Amino acid sequence: MTREELIGINAGIVKTVSANLIKHSPNTIIIVVSNPMDTMTYLVHKTTGLPKNRIIGMGGALDSARFKYRLAEALGAPISDVEGMVIGGHSDTGMVPLIGKAVRNSVSVSEFLSEERMQQVVEETKVGGATLTKLLGTSAWYAPGAAVSAMVQAIACDTKKIFPCSALLAGEFGLSDLAIGVPCVLGANGIEKIVEISLSDVEKTKLAESAEGVKKTNSLLEF
Ligand code: 2OP
Repeated sequence: MTREELIGINAGIVKTVSANLIKHSPNTIIIVVSNPMDTMTYLVHKTTGLPKNRIIGMGGALDSARFKYRLAEALGAPISDVEGMVIGGHSDTGMVPLIGKAVRNSVSVSEFLSEERMQQVVEETKVGGATLTKLLGTSAWYAPGAAVSAMVQAIACDTKKIFPCSALLAGEFGLSDLAIGVPCVLGANGIEKIVEISLSDVEKTKLAESAEGVKKTNSLLEF
């Protein structure tokens, strides 16, 4: 099966499922997990007409968990001491692990790791899903469920926790008319705020390149 055919099949399922969700639960908040995740999130925005805060793509929470795992491994530190975030598209070429902002107990990881080791962490993070798929045939085991569950908890308990989520952008980070991973405050209303953190020039360029890739995939959709 070609990638285009697979996207067509997934798009059909995502459209049917989201239309039925809204029919039976008009106040729903939809968390999209199907791949290509950013494109499927965009499709749900385009086809349901739900307010944009109520359609959220899951990818960044999972990719950030993998990033933190790889950072902790490289640092020889517990994950609870590590903070890090992955923005951009949920794909091995689109992910933008924000290594320059990653910290161990408030201290930049660059104080502990060489440039080379940090780049290795970034590369291992980007192929996290693909590595599991190669080893197990799928990566749809515990981790995506745990990531969705953390997002649901933030919404159900109105915690206002920040997760990188695939959100529909309208000018934020200089991008529009696509859904892509950016930091979002999650609460009872779904995406309560897109947090426009400052990015370095390199991070901006990587996010823009990632957005190009997502838009290219979006162009395969038929509405
Ligand atoms: C994952 O990241 C492949 O999207 C799937 O596990």
